[in-house]
Amino acid sequence: MQNPTSIYIFGASTLGELAHTYLQARYTIIGFVDNDVKKHGTRFLDKPVFAPEDAINQTHIVIASHFATEISAQLRDYGFYNFSVFKAGVAKCLLDLQLPLLDLGRELSRDPEAMIFEDITFSVGGSGILDYALLKMVARRLSPKAYLEIGTWRGESIASIANIVPQCYSISLPDDAITHMDTAGKGFPTTKFSRYFSKNVKNIKHYLTDSTSFDFEKLEVRPNLVYIDGDHSFEGIATDTKNVFNYIDKDNSIVIWHDFKTKDNRYQQITINAIWSVVDKDISDNIFGVDNSMSGIYIPQALQSRFIFQPHDDTLYSYQVSMRNKPNKVD
Ligand SMILES: C[S@@+](CC[C@H](N)C(=O)[O-])C[C@H]1O[C@@H](n2cnc3c(N)ncnc32)[C@H](O)[C@@H]1O
Repeated sequence: MQNPTSIYIFGASTLGELAHTYLQARYTIIGFVDNDVKKHGTRFLDKPVFAPEDAINQTHIVIASHFATEISAQLRDYGFYNFSVFKAGVAKCLLDLQLPLLDLGRELSRDPEAMIFEDITFSVGGSGILDYALLKMVARRLSPKAYLEIGTWRGESIASIANIVPQCYSISLPDDAITHMDTAGKGFPTTKFSRYFSKNVKNIKHYLTDSTSFDFEKLEVRPNLVYIDGDHSFEGIATDTKNVFNYIDKDNSIVIWHDFKTKDNRYQQITINAIWSVVDKDISDNIFGVDNSMSGIYIPQALQSRFIFQPHDDTLYSYQVSMRNKPNKVD
């Protein structure tokens, strides 16, 4: 991620002031941007206030507003994407983020079996193929006694590792719940194919409930591999992350978050801010991005020697792919 040196803050009010206080030591704050025409041409904290049209395409904009979702959409409508969202109360700003990376290409080179799958639909709502490969590679490497998945839709992820992990648990909303699978508010309704690939697998136990209020003590075995891919809102990710770390043995367990990165390989601000808002430094220091995937991973220090980090920027991995499909039907 490019680190800008000069920024605008979108929001000439309380949250904007907070962002200014927090960011001014590290960035030159050119001025504020606001949708309120009455503020245009005035000054806020002794900095000029601009109309959005006058600030876009200049440099990075940090949105500091309770209407961050709407303002993000507004900037995208302008065709402007060089922005991030400031979250009050979160001690880290994404602008600073340069996480070390797990080298997925080299990992998969030494474990080709992790790239073989029975049932991947490549359909909406699932993870990317390299996210599934990451999960399978980690499961094969760690040999966990129990796996917990928060958020199972068609069941592709959990089914892909059920023959590796003896006990698999899934916590996912019941079929009649309205899901909120992504932060843009696009809900994907449950379908006839909900849990299609996981529901008849003997060692997978499904809990059809809201993970954020789930009593983890119900699990018979404490999971040491966890995939968090359920409610992708800030609060949902924060609550799932907090509950998971309160329950697992954090020195010997691995946690993977999907939607940690975007499809275009940038960090997903909401996910990362949500995680950072609930974990301590001993955990955040051991969270890594995964190159060429949408995942992030927590690997405790004791397990890090089993994995390869720091992808070489002179190597680009390509994958030999052979596909065969089959129709899946429900009554
Ligand atoms: C992106 S999909 C997961 C896909 C999954 N990895 C798979 O391969 O099947 C997210 C799932 O999380 C579920 N979900 C959303 N909010 C949830 C919550 N609060 N508790 C439990 N599940 C939730 C949704 O219903 C959806 O089934």
